[in-house]
Amino acid sequence: CNLERKQNIIETNITKDKIIEAAEAIKEGKLVAFPTETVYGLGANALDPEAVAKIFIEKERPSFDPLIVHISNINDIELLTTSKDPRIYKIAEKFWPGPLTIVLPKSSRVPNIVTSGLNTVGIRMPNNPIALSLISTSGKPIAAPSANKFGKISPTKADHVIKQLKGVDYVLDGGSTDIGIESTVITLKEDGFVILREGYITADNLLEVLPQSKHKKDSMHLESPGLLKSHYSPDKPIFIESELSSEQIDNLSNTKKNKKAFISFSGRSPEGYGKIEFLSKNSDLKEAASNLFSILHKLEEDLAINVIVTEEVPENGIGIAIMDRLRKASYRYKK
Ligand code: TXA
Ligand code: MG
Repeated sequence: CNLERKQNIIETNITKDKIIEAAEAIKEGKLVAFPTETVYGLGANALDPEAVAKIFIEKERPSFDPLIVHISNINDIELLTTSKDPRIYKIAEKFWPGPLTIVLPKSSRVPNIVTSGLNTVGIRMPNNPIALSLISTSGKPIAAPSANKFGKISPTKADHVIKQLKGVDYVLDGGSTDIGIESTVITLKEDGFVILREGYITADNLLEVLPQSKHKKDSMHLESPGLLKSHYSPDKPIFIESELSSEQIDNLSNTKKNKKAFISFSGRSPEGYGKIEFLSKNSDLKEAASNLFSILHKLEEDLAINVIVTEEVPENGIGIAIMDRLRKASYRYKK
């Protein structure tokens, strides 16, 4: 089926023909939204600065926030980076295709607009057949941020993309994404690696491939200008239950029950909420990650709900990335 809405062509039944059409759109400098295993991406030809500029405009993304370049073949690494660090291939062999982005010194072929003028580029090979086929058919590396307006909730379904972005030329609907949280972003140092953004691949996973490697979190975020404190935010207040101030608790108790939603991880259903959403049936962190953004979208769309309170999840494994997203989602509603 081929639904046409203004300029948006939304493809739900992805055949090889549809991939070829979308790949043509990429070659013509157009915007194509596509599924990856993490979230939907808003893609353009990474080697075409004018096409990449359209991403920033459509997302209303500040120009200081660099994009990840997606590849489908390990040989494309050499096209994009000047680094010959053998650790790149060790990491790529273990984790690609998959939810890991490596930030490396960029080659001169990568336009400055992609990297926001930084001399590094983030590279990732996504683990989704539609994404891989789109990249290889277009024959171009594809620059793609998450397909949401800047600072808003990331999309895990094509509907989430269409809700936020009206000027995408082509949307490839591959159903719900698997992992549901963005890739882990790392950079390599002489003595180890630094995690710039938490994701599905954890420091412990990386230490298996890079033993005796020092690693740290980049708490200053100096190297990753896009990693702001506020992000992934629904259009209505969201609070982390354990961080509620007494004033907020008072305000909540004065809010009508049917206006309040609770996001549960442990299975707890506290009194006083009109709606309870469960991140997981049995407190499974991977299931919780995969449901997180779609629950946030659902509650954002629910006109009956004015305020959301979410339970914390344990900060181990992918729980670290989930708490990172929840803290950023709630940051602007703090105090
Ligand atoms: O899972 C994902 O990574 C998704 C899918 C579509 O691949 N993409 C994604 O892109 O989440 P985006 O733009 O929403 O987030 C990319 C993050 C940004 O916070 C950016 O600052 C960081 O990666 N990043 C990209 N290139 C970088 C670079 N050269 N140096 C430091 N950080 C970089
Ligand atoms: Mg994003």
